[in-house]
Amino acid sequence: MTAAATTAAGATPDGKGRAPGTWAAAGVVLLLAGACGPGRPAPLAALPREAPEASAPDAYGPITPIPAAGPLDPARAELGRRLFHDVRLSHDDSLSCAGCHPLDSAGVDHQVRAIGIGGARGERNTSTVFNAALNFRQFWDGRAASLESQIDGPIANPSELGSSWDEVTAKLRRDPGYVRAFAAAYASPVTPAAVRDAIATFERTLVYRGSRFDRFLEGDATALSSEERAGYQLFQRLGCASCHQGANVGGNMFERLGAIRDFFAEHGAPSESDLGRFNVTGRDDDRFVFRVPSLRLVSRTAPYLHDGSLSTLAETIVIMASYQLGRHLPAADVHSIELFLDSLAGTPEGGAGATAH
Ligand code: HEC
Ligand code: HEC
Repeated sequence: MTAAATTAAGATPDGKGRAPGTWAAAGVVLLLAGACGPGRPAPLAALPREAPEASAPDAYGPITPIPAAGPLDPARAELGRRLFHDVRLSHDDSLSCAGCHPLDSAGVDHQVRAIGIGGARGERNTSTVFNAALNFRQFWDGRAASLESQIDGPIANPSELGSSWDEVTAKLRRDPGYVRAFAAAYASPVTPAAVRDAIATFERTLVYRGSRFDRFLEGDATALSSEERAGYQLFQRLGCASCHQGANVGGNMFERLGAIRDFFAEHGAPSESDLGRFNVTGRDDDRFVFRVPSLRLVSRTAPYLHDGSLSTLAETIVIMASYQLGRHLPAADVHSIELFLDSLAGTPEGGAGATAH
């Protein structure tokens, strides 16, 4: 029996860098904090939210299956789907959320850095909206505490939608279809809070499920090839899983880019955006610190890192091993990890509809 299968059956994973009990506890606490942490606006009505399942992570090892979908209000999710695709959310009626997060392409634009209205080039690589509800904070630097508050970012960012809540709500109120839909779903006129809630409700439906890796965790030993299992073993043994862990294989802690070797010393002078979490907290310790990204869809969301500077997954795995763990990986190991990462995705569900991926 392989070590990966042993882990799935409940033995202690062989991860380095952090004591296994610590990652499990930290992951659970942080995921729960993300589900009801401070800064989240009060829900407009008491609706059950999608919450991580209470299953013990130790039963699975460092990575847990994507939790089952929680109940979501279908009228609000459908309104959110329309808003997500509506160019009236941009100042010049040229761009929607979906323009940068196309749902038929894993929720990303595949640009190095995003392109907003009027061709304005942003500072960061576009994150996927799929599985974003499972992250404990939103954005590369975690500056938004919830999906609802995240939306203020793209609305106002001059290199994204370049608008304002006053402008957006005024435009939407001129559309009788929206006035009726908001009245029906929220018993409310078109307000920023209702728009945020509708889009966030829609985003909670954007989850990839049923990955071969999750089937493997749940006991189907045939769901992964032997090379994918070898990649999973390496991912644990090298210590990748001390940072990339939990249901989203990331998205539940902050860590420095360059934990072992100074990344920016060897990649040119850092820009302000490269300071990451420091821009949010002002603490010196937070320079170059980012939210550890989810790896669930990573085989479909090139290019990589917060600045989109790495174009292939293989190259990113090499850089991670070197700068985060001080390890030089042979090409065969890089390949196994790449195959393992590709087994994590699954297929899009819910609001994404029958989209290709
Ligand atoms: C111009 C392209 C662009 C547009 C338009 C845009 N986004 Fe984004 N989105 C990005 C980029 C770039 C990031 C990462 C920015 C960062 O972390 O600093 C991002 C991040 C996000 C995230 C965070 C995901 C995570 O895991 O942290 C969510 C959620 C999101 N966008 C939803 C939306 C919604 C909803 C809209 C419409 C209201 C929208 N985006 C419009 C480019 C865009
Ligand atoms: C010390 C914590 C840590 C360790 C260990 C670590 N990573 Fe990461 N990883 C991060 C952080 C933080 C980022 C985001 C860095 C950035 O974009 O600036 C990241 C980014 C990535 C990305 C790019 C994701 C994207 O969407 O752009 C991949 C792929 C990745 N890691 C794979 C791995 C693999 C494989 C290993 C083991 C060889 C590993 N990581 C080890 C913290 C870590």
